[in-house]
Amino acid sequence: MEQLTISKIREGTVIDHINAGKAPLVLKILGIDKGSKETVSLAMNVPSKKMGKKDIVKVEGKFLGEEELNKIALIAPGATINIIKDYKIVKKFKVTPPEKLEGILRCPNRNCISNAEREPITPKFKIVKKSTLFAVCEYCGRRFSNFEDNLE
Ligand code: CTP
Repeated sequence: MEQLTISKIREGTVIDHINAGKAPLVLKILGIDKGSKETVSLAMNVPSKKMGKKDIVKVEGKFLGEEELNKIALIAPGATINIIKDYKIVKKFKVTPPEKLEGILRCPNRNCISNAEREPITPKFKIVKKSTLFAVCEYCGRRFSNFEDNLE
């Protein structure tokens, strides 16, 4: 049997098949940081048959919502979500990009009203899939696809 890099969890959310090296960005998207109380384990550059190398994130004792989890698709389009209860996988799904997004990204247009220093407003985007995935700012119409460089 294949050796486990990180232990199985009793209850919570496992995010698997994250593109190698992107686990820290996944935590950022989920708002998990030094102030979070959950036990979180993270494995990077794990050998994977399908992907060569992959990252894995396990958040114990927390059932993240599908909408929140789908935001991960912006930086890890092939991620698989496993919801774990009593050590068993009760739900498994692939992330799908959201159609609309509030926050998470910031508009790369410096002159966009969403970047105003006074009275900041929540950035809003439409996510469009053509041959690639891109975001369209609801305020200024700027399109961009380099999501990683524009995380809030
Ligand atoms: N997992 C876990 N705790 C559990 C059950 C599963 O942390 N109690 C993790 C596994 O370590 C794995 C992921 O959840 O990273 C998916 O588990 P499983 O479906 O058993 O593995 P695979 O068959 O390899 O998944 P897939 O078919 O999605 O590649």
